[in-house]
Amino acid sequence: MASEIPFQRIRLNLRKYILEPAKRRREVKLSDMKEFFSDLEAAERMLSSGKDPVIYQYCEYEASEEPDNLILGLTVIYPGKVGKEYFMTRGHFHEKDSGEIYYCIYGSGIILIQSKDGQTAYMELKQGDLCYVPPGWGHRTINTGRKRFVFLFVYPSGSGHDYGIIKEKGFAKLVIEEKGKWKVVDNPRYLG
Ligand code: F6R
Ligand code: ZN
Repeated sequence: MASEIPFQRIRLNLRKYILEPAKRRREVKLSDMKEFFSDLEAAERMLSSGKDPVIYQYCEYEASEEPDNLILGLTVIYPGKVGKEYFMTRGHFHEKDSGEIYYCIYGSGIILIQSKDGQTAYMELKQGDLCYVPPGWGHRTINTGRKRFVFLFVYPSGSGHDYGIIKEKGFAKLVIEEKGKWKVVDNPRYLG
């Protein structure tokens, strides 16, 4: 009977920054997400010079796909920039408006959220900080540091991910580096 209970220890391997076990792992390279960066020309210059860096990777553990379960995951965003824009996740809305918890375990970065009518908000997350992403808000994380930006996340099974709206319209704000510091600016190409 015990083997049927989805009751499992999940180890956070802090050397490799992965969960063990993890049921899904994903690596996102520049070539997988170049259209999500505001400076597409800079992205294409990197790729045509033979550079296709891993921008981030994440893994997820889902005990069961039954409703009312939770997914636990870990994301590592590497340090770097495409043009002035820091390495970041693609960003998405949940198909089912569900909330999400983020917990930064290493490094530092920004979490940027956006409502469907284009309102935005952001906060800096450093090691030990948690934040709650409210249901219905799109979200993206950005590595503004010189180290990896690593965070755990928890959200409901079956939430689904809508990347299309972000790929098509972008976020209303960009997080760029200016004079060596991060700055949140309006996205001139936002099609909100
Ligand atoms: C899950 C979630 C995060 C992201 C991960 C990768 O709902 O918000 O775990 O999935 O950080 O970012 P995306 O999915 O935007 O490429
Ligand atoms: Zn999410």
